[in-house]
Amino acid sequence: QVFARIAGTGSYLPEKVVTNDDLAKVVDTSDEWIAARTGIRQRHVAADGETTGDLAYHAAVRALEAAGVQASELDLIVLGTTTPDLVFPSTACLVQHRLGAAGCPAFDVNAACSGFVYALTIADKFIRSGAAKTALVIGSETLTRMVDWNDRTTAVLFGDGAGAVVLKADTETGILSTHMHADGSKKELLWNPVGVSVGFKENEPNAGVRINMSGNDVFKHAVKALDSVVEETLEHNGLDRHDIDWLIPHQANLRIIEATAKRLDMPMERVVVTVDKHGNTSSGSVPLALDAAVRSGKVQRGQLLLLEAFGGGFTWGSALLRY
Ligand code: ACO
Repeated sequence: QVFARIAGTGSYLPEKVVTNDDLAKVVDTSDEWIAARTGIRQRHVAADGETTGDLAYHAAVRALEAAGVQASELDLIVLGTTTPDLVFPSTACLVQHRLGAAGCPAFDVNAACSGFVYALTIADKFIRSGAAKTALVIGSETLTRMVDWNDRTTAVLFGDGAGAVVLKADTETGILSTHMHADGSKKELLWNPVGVSVGFKENEPNAGVRINMSGNDVFKHAVKALDSVVEETLEHNGLDRHDIDWLIPHQANLRIIEATAKRLDMPMERVVVTVDKHGNTSSGSVPLALDAAVRSGKVQRGQLLLLEAFGGGFTWGSALLRY
């Protein structure tokens, strides 16, 4: 049997940090409100001209370094994003060119905040089937480009960033199972209502490109979907909830993370939390949290990790792996 094992992780955050107090100067909000409702204290924001592809490239270089893998060895690149540089070519192709990895397949996956978990799942299938041996999986976003800074209900939630992993075929262990779901019937609870085919709104700021969200509804659906995918993952692997060493959740809201941890009967010391520093970086959030946990020495080789995410679509999913 062949597993896809994480050989190295990397991440990248733009330099500019915007604190809750900075936001309180622009909209009617406060550090107290934002921190109590979401756990967020600050977020990173991409500079003018700094793109999703730039963040992805830097995260990828770090992951390749950590894995001791040359870009020329890659035989697959999958990149999760909702905020690609261009409509086409895909951001994965742009990153491939910059890395000098021409020839291998490279494509983007749009699953909103579940983008990285979806991308990881696809790469896992390629490696398990023997179609690839060394894969680069990236989650990268510049979600603040879609934020209406005058809308306090969404402006306080999001940030920019990227994370990446290099997967290598391994006969011992690696990703044990992945689980993906979607429900398109709830699209209007969390969406960007314009696009190339539907058209843009010339008279609105940013041509109508913005995040529309029914926060309360999304919150409830997220908790429920994550509960069920966590159960599904444990059951599929015949595991008890106490077997998991680390929960590495999508970083949208500390209260959603705490609800999942409670479901797993997991103390918060075993949960990787970066939402306080990064905000919600959508596809970037899980690999950013994973890289932070690896580099800080929290996550050790041989430990059992549960990754999960929920996002617009709705989409949700999980991955269980032996690191
Ligand atoms: N500052 C101060 N007050 C605010 C702010 C703000 N930034 N935003 C909203 N409020 C006010 C509202 O206007 C409302 O006032 P009212 O009672 O006078 O009408 C009050 O605060 C409460 O608003 P709610 O929306 O009910 O607050 P809630 O407790 O639901 O928290 C939040 C809102 C933080 C958005 C929460 O619903 C949430 O986190 N939902 C999940 C969102 C999420 O995780 N989205 C991403 C997941 S998917 C993805 O990652 C794309």
